[in-house]
Amino acid sequence: MPRKIKIFDTTLRDGEQTPGVALTADKKTEIARALDELKVDIIEAGFPASSDGDFKSVKTIANLGLDATVCGLARALKPDIDKCIDADVHLVHTFISTSPQHLKYQMGKTEEEVYAMAVSAVDYVKDHGIDCLFSPMDATRSNVDYLKKVCIGVQGAGAKIINIPDTVGQMYPHAMYDLIKEMRKVITVDIDVHCHNDFGMAVANTLASVEAGANQVQVAVNGLGERAGNADLEQVVMALEILYGRKTRIKTENIYKTSKLVERMTGIRVMPNFPIVGDNAFAHESGIHTHGVLKKAETFEPTGLTPDMVGAKRKLVLGKHVGIHGVEAKLKELGIDVSKEQLKEITNKVKSLGDLGKRVVEDDLAAIADDLLGRDSKEKRFVELADLELNLKFGRKPVASVDILVNGKRKKATEEGVGPVDAALNAIRGAIGEKDIRLDEYHLDAITGGSNALADVTIRVSKGEKVTMARGVHEDVVMASVIAFLNGVNRLIK
Ligand code: KIV
Ligand code: ZN
Repeated sequence: MPRKIKIFDTTLRDGEQTPGVALTADKKTEIARALDELKVDIIEAGFPASSDGDFKSVKTIANLGLDATVCGLARALKPDIDKCIDADVHLVHTFISTSPQHLKYQMGKTEEEVYAMAVSAVDYVKDHGIDCLFSPMDATRSNVDYLKKVCIGVQGAGAKIINIPDTVGQMYPHAMYDLIKEMRKVITVDIDVHCHNDFGMAVANTLASVEAGANQVQVAVNGLGERAGNADLEQVVMALEILYGRKTRIKTENIYKTSKLVERMTGIRVMPNFPIVGDNAFAHESGIHTHGVLKKAETFEPTGLTPDMVGAKRKLVLGKHVGIHGVEAKLKELGIDVSKEQLKEITNKVKSLGDLGKRVVEDDLAAIADDLLGRDSKEKRFVELADLELNLKFGRKPVASVDILVNGKRKKATEEGVGPVDAALNAIRGAIGEKDIRLDEYHLDAITGGSNALADVTIRVSKGEKVTMARGVHEDVVMASVIAFLNGVNRLIK
């Protein structure tokens, strides 16, 4: 049986130390619930002595009745530890620096003084009957003999877990492996590691530590944390499970949605090319890759890792080099039937969007096809747009003029609106003389991102009791809205 690795999540503590991130108590609670559903073993909920707000958040989270152990951070000082105890945490994470730099410049203390503080902090936690995790901060730049002495001391005092932090991300995998092997010679309790990402090595160093005998890892969702962040939860977990054959308790299908929640709550977006949860993690560009993936996903995706394992979706990106067969295959997969002529038109549309530098993903393709299929049934259409003119002047309301064919008859109208879309829709309503057509819902997706993204508008329109959904796709957001509105109007008044 592969050894189980415990996941210690520090999104709400070190992750919250990401420059620019400050989480309210409600947000911290929501993230804590998501982490619990994700099945992390330990949630480091905060640093209760750092502020009243953090004290309250940690206390709230500790009393949610979560399945995960809730931990609070404390310096190796009694008042900090008291705050953790008052916040009802299940595990106190106490720390003190052991590196010469920190001893001399940060604390102005001798090795003996630090040793005594470390041991008495753990003693104090244990005296209160609470489990204790101890961190010798900046461990990886500490003298190894001194580091061992401190670890032996706190272990003797009853520390349940000893964490070896790479506080400034100074390590590389071989060095981390050797250090953990060395520490394993004297540490008999659980070894935890906490790796920062200053050289982009956090995940690799964490995994090397596991190979050397660490059985717990500290990670943060989306790799959040001080400076370049901490080891990323998503990458560490999936690498452990798939590459290293180690088990965790993590419900991997929740990984993507947890990452998205943390993105929303912190306002820190992950890079598109971020592994596992980035927008491009399972996106394939046109050509050889798309072709291969259409036949068998494993051709251009890692063996053993599928998007659904982490709750994400595969995206096929069709670019300007796409062939008619690629589009045809994709449409078939999407269950959309088109004629040869329509297929040619859709392929040309995809290519021309590609020429404009736009990426066309599955959703775009479906929208382009829907749009084309909608426009193909012209004979059934009651209302058709012949012309649209928009007048935008700084400091004035936008004005739209439309020229419309209503049942074959030309009608014109000019209206203003709060924005260009509103003005255009008001003018259409005016021209067709159906002022009681209501726009109940409006949803705009710029699926592929960027200011020149393909606009995909979905609306709900109603007239009296009649309600319909409609969609419009165009490079321009006003035109996408107008197309959607006209599609809806035609359905309502046919
Ligand atoms: O980076 C670090 O050393 C820490 C400790 C508090 C574990 O965050
Ligand atoms: Zn840290």
